[in-house]
Amino acid sequence: MTRPLADKGLAVLGIESSCDETAAAVVAGTAVRSSVVATQHDLHAEYGGVVPEIASRAHVERMSPVIGRALAEAGTDWQDLDAIAVGHRPGLIGSLLIGVAAARGIAWARGLPLIGVDHVHAHLSAGLLGRETGTLETPSLGLVVSGGHSSIYLIEDPLSPERLGGTIDDAVGEAFDKAAAILGLPHPGGPAIDALASREGADDRALDLPVSRLGRESLDFSFSGLKTALLYAVRGKPRPRAEGGGFERDHTSLSDQQRRDAAASFQRAASQAVTLKLRRSIEHVRSRGLRPRTLVAGGGVTANSRLRRELSELCQAESLTLMIPEPRYCVDNAAMIALLGSLRLAAGHRDELDLAPVPTTAC
Ligand code: KG4
Ligand code: ZN
Repeated sequence: MTRPLADKGLAVLGIESSCDETAAAVVAGTAVRSSVVATQHDLHAEYGGVVPEIASRAHVERMSPVIGRALAEAGTDWQDLDAIAVGHRPGLIGSLLIGVAAARGIAWARGLPLIGVDHVHAHLSAGLLGRETGTLETPSLGLVVSGGHSSIYLIEDPLSPERLGGTIDDAVGEAFDKAAAILGLPHPGGPAIDALASREGADDRALDLPVSRLGRESLDFSFSGLKTALLYAVRGKPRPRAEGGGFERDHTSLSDQQRRDAAASFQRAASQAVTLKLRRSIEHVRSRGLRPRTLVAGGGVTANSRLRRELSELCQAESLTLMIPEPRYCVDNAAMIALLGSLRLAAGHRDELDLAPVPTTAC
C-alpha cells in the first residue's frame, strides 16, 4: 500500500555507506519516515576493526534490500520522492562507491535530483531530526566526535561550517575502540566501555590518565597519549626487545573491578578532553565578537552517556542550547544524510550524475 508522505518539506531518500553501516532512510522535512541500518559489526568483530574489502562486499549485498525496506517502512513509492541524497565523502573509497553507484542509478532511472552530502557535516545536521523546523540559529558551535573524526566547527552558514580544530592523531571514537581492545572488550568498543563505566561502583578516578591540552590556545585534539597511558596502566611497562618484547601482563590479569575502573577513568579523561576544547572554542569565538547560542553535537561518541551529561552541563553553564540527536541518530545512519540533502536541495544545490566518491572531508 502506498500512502503519501507528509505534506511538510521535501521528501528525500538518503543513502549511507561510508564505512561499515549500510543505511537508507526517507525523511520529509525534519520528520523521519523510515531509517534502516544494516550494521556489519559482526563481520568485522574478529579482526578488531573494519576490514575495507569485507565492508565493500557487504554493502553490495545489502544495499538493494536496505533501500527497499526504507521505502516500504516509509509507506512510499519512487514517485513520492523529491530527491536522492548520498553520503559521498569522506569514508572508505570502496564503501562509498557502492552507495554513490546506487544513488546515481536511482537518480538516472527515476529522473530525480541527485545530491552529494558530506558525511561529517551530516552528523552536524542529525540534531535537527524530529524537530519542528530544519532551521538552525547562527552563529552556532558544532562538535563531531565519531570513529573517524573529532572536530569543532563555527557554523555561520549551516551548509558550509568552518572547522576550528580537529584531531592531530586518533579520532576519539577510535581511541574508545582501541581502549576497549586494551581492556579485552569487543569491537566497536565505545558502547562496551560506556556500559562497563556505568556499572555500580566503577571509580572514574582510579587511574590518573592524561587530558591532552596541546598549545595554550590550541583547539585541536590528541588522543594517542591517553591511549598509551591506558595501555601501560593495564599491561605494565613494555619489555626491551632484547628480552623478547611485549608487556609485563595483559588484560586477563585485571579483576572485574579493575576493568570497570579503567573503563570509567578512560571515559572521564576522553570526555574532559572534548569539553576542554569546547570551552576554549567558546572563548575563541567570543573573542571574534560572535555570540553563539547553540551547540550542535553529533557522531557516534555523542551517544556516550558521560559525554552527553558533560555537554549538557557545559551548555547550561555557558547559556547555550544543546542540540544533540537521540542515540540512534548519533551513530551512522541515512536519516542525517537525507536531512542535509533536503537542506541543500532547498538551497538550490544539486549534483550531476557523474558525482564521484571522495575519501576526504570538505573541511
Ligand atoms: O559516527 P559513527 O557511527 O561512525 C563514524 O562516522 O566513524 O561512530 C562510530 C564510533 C565508534 O568508534 C564507536 O565506538 C563510537 O562511535 N561509539 C561510542 C558509543 N557508541 C558508539 N563511543 C563511546 N560511547 C558510546 N556509547
Ligand atoms: Zn559517522
